[in-house]
Amino acid sequence: MDFSIKSADKKNSLNTIKTDCIVIGIYENGKPTDEAIELDANGIVTQALDSGDISGKAGSVLLVGSPAGLSAKRLLLLGLGKKPIGEKDFRQAIDTAIKTLKPLNIGDVLIALPFNTLSNRDLSWSIYCILSEFHSQLYRSDALKNQKEPSTKIQKVSFYIPSEDMAIAREALHRAKAITDGMTLAQDLGNLPANICTPTYLAKQAKTLAQTYKFGIEILDRKQIESLKMGCFLSVAKGSDEPPKFIVLKHMKGKSKEAPVILVGKGITFDSGGISLKPGASMDEMKFDMCGAASVLGTFKAIGELDLKQNVIGIIPACENLPSGHANKPGDIVTSMSGQTVEILNTDAEGRLILCDALTYAEKFNPAVVIDIATLTGACIVALGHINSGLFTRLDEQHDKLAGDLIAAAKSSNDPVWRMPIQDAYQDQLKSNFADMANIGGQPAGCVTAACFLERFTRKFVWAHLDIAGTAWKSGPSKGATGRPVPLLCTYLIQRENH
Ligand code: BES
Ligand code: MN
Ligand code: ZN
Repeated sequence: MDFSIKSADKKNSLNTIKTDCIVIGIYENGKPTDEAIELDANGIVTQALDSGDISGKAGSVLLVGSPAGLSAKRLLLLGLGKKPIGEKDFRQAIDTAIKTLKPLNIGDVLIALPFNTLSNRDLSWSIYCILSEFHSQLYRSDALKNQKEPSTKIQKVSFYIPSEDMAIAREALHRAKAITDGMTLAQDLGNLPANICTPTYLAKQAKTLAQTYKFGIEILDRKQIESLKMGCFLSVAKGSDEPPKFIVLKHMKGKSKEAPVILVGKGITFDSGGISLKPGASMDEMKFDMCGAASVLGTFKAIGELDLKQNVIGIIPACENLPSGHANKPGDIVTSMSGQTVEILNTDAEGRLILCDALTYAEKFNPAVVIDIATLTGACIVALGHINSGLFTRLDEQHDKLAGDLIAAAKSSNDPVWRMPIQDAYQDQLKSNFADMANIGGQPAGCVTAACFLERFTRKFVWAHLDIAGTAWKSGPSKGATGRPVPLLCTYLIQRENH
């Protein structure tokens, strides 16, 4: 789909613009917006409002065919709720507008809404909101179906923008497009089955990104991973015949001495649980256990599109977690790259095992910030459901600042997180009689003890952990990857660049 900006100057009067449909706003009291008044020269809007067929409540709509006096073929009146328009009302209105237009015989649409007069959001936000609603309604996961699902005839969407706001709007559109394209990549990878999306396949995707956007790239194979002594990662990988890959992507467009932001993504391409085998029901969904990795790749696509002036490094440990004669057994003790030893009491707690070595590897870059992204625990779903991703950091001032920045980015990108604790008191649950720590901490606060396990490998830098077990994909009839938290990560980086 092609998005563009149209200048609201005299040459482009709304009455004379040729398009299949113009979208115009109506407030809850039945009052037209400024754009609607501009277009009402022939009374077409007044007439439509007089019919009483649209209330102006957020999400109410009225489609007018062959509107008299307009060059446009259709006019969509869209209820925006109370003035000034709230964030929720705006999203609801856009959602309904797209649902209404999507099935019609419409090739191009002009959206002429008061983008710049929301109660607590700006023009850039409105544009992002519209692109992300289009994305979520039009994304299809039918790559491997012979019969494609019905899509839409809409090809072109333009935004009608006051000429003084053109530059801001163009920039906002560029960013929003980069973010939704990043989500698409993350979703496509997440939705692929594990027999196609292997560690080798993820490495290939990273290589393609590196070629397209001139990223630095290293793909370490089993031998190289062995020589780095990543004993925890290797212990998970060795249960499978599929070769593990350790992927490192580098976008170094900041100042040469500037400390990088590092994104670490869990890349378990299938999690059977290993010898601590998972139950059969819904086990297919464990193909999504690489969604952390996919979100790093999706974010890197956006970073490349926007050519951010920052140093960002992506690290992805990728392997399968399968039972076999070579697999980890409960009670096995392995030595991590950091030298700390781990007693594997449950082979299904494998995410923390591959991440702990990736986090130790991150030390060598002297990072400004490390953020890991992982479908880490079922317990996080119990705690936060499918709404918020879990955000875990230590509780000092530096980390409060990082958590604050991530929460702000999460709010403005509509990709919410909720802060969870990391405290020494929970570390006791990881006590082992035979090794420095166990890889599980028992049932209470399972997502917190998982984060506390990772915390032991992050003491040399500022670090945040995102548990996306409940947010990276949907189950049930709309089963599929969501692309989260690509919007959050991109927005965090963009906001960081602006400060
Ligand atoms: N990938 C799973 C976490 C998961 C489970 C995400 C269900 C989404 C839905 C992870 O590797 C895992 O199996 N975690 C265990 C940890 C337990 C053994 C301490 C879990 O959550 O059950
Ligand atoms: Mn597991
Ligand atoms: Zn897992």
